Amino acid sequence: MRIYQTKNYNDMCRKAAAVIFSQMILKPDSVLGLATGSSPIGVYQRLIEQYNKGDLDFSMVKSINLDEYKGLSCEHDQSYYYFMNENLFKHVNINPDNVNIPNGMVKNNDQECARYNEVIRRLGGVDLQLLGLGHNGHIGFNEPDEAFALETHCVKLAKSTIDANARLFDNPDDVPRYAYTMGIKSIMQAKRVLVIVSGEGKADILKKVLTGPVTPHVPASILQMHNDVTVIGDEAAFSKIN
Ligand code: GLP
Repeated sequence: MRIYQTKNYNDMCRKAAAVIFSQMILKPDSVLGLATGSSPIGVYQRLIEQYNKGDLDFSMVKSINLDEYKGLSCEHDQSYYYFMNENLFKHVNINPDNVNIPNGMVKNNDQECARYNEVIRRLGGVDLQLLGLGHNGHIGFNEPDEAFALETHCVKLAKSTIDANARLFDNPDDVPRYAYTMGIKSIMQAKRVLVIVSGEGKADILKKVLTGPVTPHVPASILQMHNDVTVIGDEAAFSKIN
């Protein structure tokens, strides 16, 4: 595991974007595993800047997103489809046919999960997986549980996740209770993993993720077992680790 501590959020984003930048330069048809949340927004901004300078080309990139709220359509401004479009896709030359996100409007869980597992299989897995970290240690929407869920599944969101994400909705009651998420096995099969963590609010969980036992109660702790993980976090996020 490679760990980089940065001064602040901007520097974290600059370094994380550099990792994605080099991945795309070396393998222009990379399969990028992409994430939502506040953490990656600055990373995507950096990538857009590089694209506008003519340094990055998304035309052959394939993307696969981690998760989507169940019940939100792609037009809903809190859907992850909408987020990805607003924060990255509409600004770069990615081919819409190469964009993959679970479809939150499919009611039949088995059907949507099987479809998404097949998408992951057909792409041959993920070259570089970008991950944020939930306050309870979730990655994607893999919430703390008694066992690691391996493949795409429909998850009941933890109360702490609903509370954390309520800030983004007009009414806290509008936060969906369920989501589709890629499973831990699919994340662990990514060739490389890049984790970004920012802010004091993540300091306790980051300590558990990096130095605690590997347990499904802290889903991101499984990353200790992956052989190519880069963690980039700011000083505040590392403040509980000596
Ligand atoms: C959400 C997403 C995760 C994300 C996490 C942290 O619930 N499903 O993929 O990593 O929250 O978000 P943030 O970066 O806003 O703290």
